Amino acid sequence: APFLHSAAVAHGKAWFGSELDTFSGEQYDQAFMTVWNDSRIFGSTTPGNTMKWEFVEPQQNTFNFSQGMQTVALSKATGKDAHLRCHNLVWHEELPSWVVYQPYDSWTNITLAAAMINHITKTVRGFGSNCYSWDVVNEAIDDNAQWRNTIFYQYMGKYYIPIAFAAAQAAVKSIGADIKLVYNDYNIEFPGAKQQKAVELVQLIKQYGIKIDGVGFESHFVFGETPGASAQMQAMQSFTSLGLNMYQTELDVRFPSLPPTPATLAQQASDYYNTIQACMKTPACQGMTVWDFDDAYSWVPSTFAGQGDACLYWANLTRKPAYEAVYQAI
Ligand code: XIL
Repeated sequence: APFLHSAAVAHGKAWFGSELDTFSGEQYDQAFMTVWNDSRIFGSTTPGNTMKWEFVEPQQNTFNFSQGMQTVALSKATGKDAHLRCHNLVWHEELPSWVVYQPYDSWTNITLAAAMINHITKTVRGFGSNCYSWDVVNEAIDDNAQWRNTIFYQYMGKYYIPIAFAAAQAAVKSIGADIKLVYNDYNIEFPGAKQQKAVELVQLIKQYGIKIDGVGFESHFVFGETPGASAQMQAMQSFTSLGLNMYQTELDVRFPSLPPTPATLAQQASDYYNTIQACMKTPACQGMTVWDFDDAYSWVPSTFAGQGDACLYWANLTRKPAYEAVYQAI
């Protein structure tokens, strides 16, 4: 039987995984969970929302790990805990209002740095060694390949990035754990200005002797516009040559207009195939994670109006051609 995680492990990868979003009630959907629970299909997970700043630290210095711990528990029950990708510590979205909507200019670089370091330190300690990796900084580069103008950037400049990684490194050390520290972004999966900026980001961190273990390629692709396997491998090479591991972290391939046809489904399958091949052919690429496997819970329709059908399974949990293509690519 075509089991994706088993096949990935048999071919030298650490996992094939799927996101889990307990906020959308997936854990109560028995048909969904029968697939997600199957440790032969999925051997890793990433919480879709519950570990984000807004939910973990809703008021300054008041922490709530219980929602994220639900995903920890579900992954432990189904053998996914060895590769739980904790997500994320510093991002410009899903921030609590106390970070974003301070009265104008009430932060300073010092106070915001302290708040960010406190968030990172206590969140890393809170989830502790349940995490295989942390996406320390998420999407710090904008679509013009400039440093994204986040609140952190506004007060600290690009230096918030090495500061965040240094805080994460210190927090991991303080609990004696081994947790991979990752930079995660989209549109860096192929050579170009944004991928080059991400290389600059890695160098910025490394130049201070601060630890970064890997880069996550989100891989939110559009059918027919997905970069080819060799372009994706070339982009991976730009990071692996700096000694980093790679991960495909949020893979999906959406249709800009619906419904798909047999021909466009075949193209989607080939886009998935090429993407998985890029990881399979890159020794330092550790694992592949889809940003949900079931169209019923995909983030795409609510984010990109009129788009969808991006997952490996239809909403009725039958498999698309893309599923078989992924299996073949592994
Ligand atoms: C998305 C979630 O899937 C949605 O439920 C939420 O409303 C918004 O965030 N890049 C990331 C993920 O790194 O955290 C995002 O997840 C998708 C884009």
